[in-house]
Amino acid sequence: MADITVRPMTVDDAGRVRAIYQAGLDGGDASFETAAPSWAAFDASRLSGHRLVAADGDGPVLGWIAVSPTSTRAVYAGVVEHSVYVDPAARGRGVARLLLDALIRSTEAAGIWTIQSGVFPENAASLALHQRAGFRVLGVRERVGRHHGRWRDVVLLERRSAVVN
Ligand SMILES: CC(C)(COP(=O)(O)OP(=O)(O)OC[C@H]1O[C@@H](n2cnc3c(N)ncnc32)[C@H](O)[C@@H]1OP(=O)(O)O)[C@@H](O)C(=O)NCCC(=O)NCCS
Repeated sequence: MADITVRPMTVDDAGRVRAIYQAGLDGGDASFETAAPSWAAFDASRLSGHRLVAADGDGPVLGWIAVSPTSTRAVYAGVVEHSVYVDPAARGRGVARLLLDALIRSTEAAGIWTIQSGVFPENAASLALHQRAGFRVLGVRERVGRHHGRWRDVVLLERRSAVVN
């Protein structure tokens, strides 16, 4: 853990970011999506100032985190939705927590006040990660979408910054 550092994502990370994304989707409990987007689609949908990767020294990227806007309305300009994905071989070592803590610092420094996420109830790791980082559960959307033909619930979580006022 001591050597794992967080840095901004660059276009050179695209291959690892997409591979880790796909591995998470293949696990079946990360998202309704089933295929990682192209780099162009990823790049177009994520805010450029809040994309981070974690790596062990100069080694390969172990995980990433990024945010998308939730609305074009000015009132919600400080409300974003994030995704966090860690290489299956690097899970359980605190990589996601490092990324999430760094994202919270980065977004708060930019005046973003709320980070939200939707998590499948079966995703115990993600629920634990977010609740330990100060997210609260808003509720559960029941059978809100179909994933591989099966209706699934989604737990809505958010973290309201205490320092952005
Ligand atoms: C969810 C995910 C990002 C967690 O990454 P990670 O690097 O293994 O998580 P961390 O090691 O930082 O653990 C964070 C916290 O969650 C807890 N946690 C991790 N995995 C857990 C599990 N399977 N069950 C219960 N708690 C778990 C850890 O104990 C830790 O809490 P602690 O700080 O009190 O010890 C990772 O499992 C993943 O990439 N999953 C697939 C993609 C995904 O689901 N992304 C989230 C979409 S909403």
